[in-house]
Amino acid sequence: MTVRSKAALAVALGTLVPGAFALSGTAYSSPEHPSAARYTARGELIFPADYREWVFLTSGVNMNYSDEAMGMDHDMVDNVFVDPQSWRAFKQTGKWPDGTVLVKEPRMGAHTGSINKSGTFQTEQRFSLEVHVKDSRRFKGGWAFFVHRGEQPASAIPGTAACYSCHGSHGAVDTTFVQFYPTAKPIAVKAGTFDAAK
Ligand code: HEC
Repeated sequence: MTVRSKAALAVALGTLVPGAFALSGTAYSSPEHPSAARYTARGELIFPADYREWVFLTSGVNMNYSDEAMGMDHDMVDNVFVDPQSWRAFKQTGKWPDGTVLVKEPRMGAHTGSINKSGTFQTEQRFSLEVHVKDSRRFKGGWAFFVHRGEQPASAIPGTAACYSCHGSHGAVDTTFVQFYPTAKPIAVKAGTFDAAK
């Protein structure tokens, strides 16, 4: 290769690389990119920046999964979202397809503000974003959990963590808590994928 063609190649690569990044960040609605999940070269999950435009499944207020009181001095509201493409598949089959990304967004609740007299509303203060991704080729057991602090990429939580055991023992559809998602539950019940014993 001549010096000049090497330089041309370097220029071409220089323009290609940013292009590739732009693609990986936006392309999940196209058929070649079936998953909403995007990873860094080190296998960390990239923060799903547009999850707020996905399909809303539920909000929970002060949910507590243990017998002990949480002793929280504030209200906690969480919102659950799923990527639109996987929701379309779920509506037809009652199953989450490979590539599914579910997000739980915990937010600080508040009581006093503006005209509010009672009850809890949500504030701009978001806590770490929790993500549950299905990809049978990528993860042992089919699913992995991630927790994003801020908007940094997150590495997969090890399989020994309580996330996996609680979701595995109590999630009514394939390790997910569809029993608490009012529009998803009847679809799974009808499709026969819902485990009512959980
Ligand atoms: C003791 C049980 C328990 C543990 C431990 C637990 N979760 Fe969950 N998780 C739940 C319940 C219950 C819901 C339903 C929340 C709702 O209805 O708002 C849920 C919902 C979720 C969702 C929404 C999608 C889904 O799978 O239904 C994500 C994402 C999630 N949890 C992530 C995590 C992560 C990450 C961890 C570990 C750091 C974790 N969870 C640990 C009980 C648990």
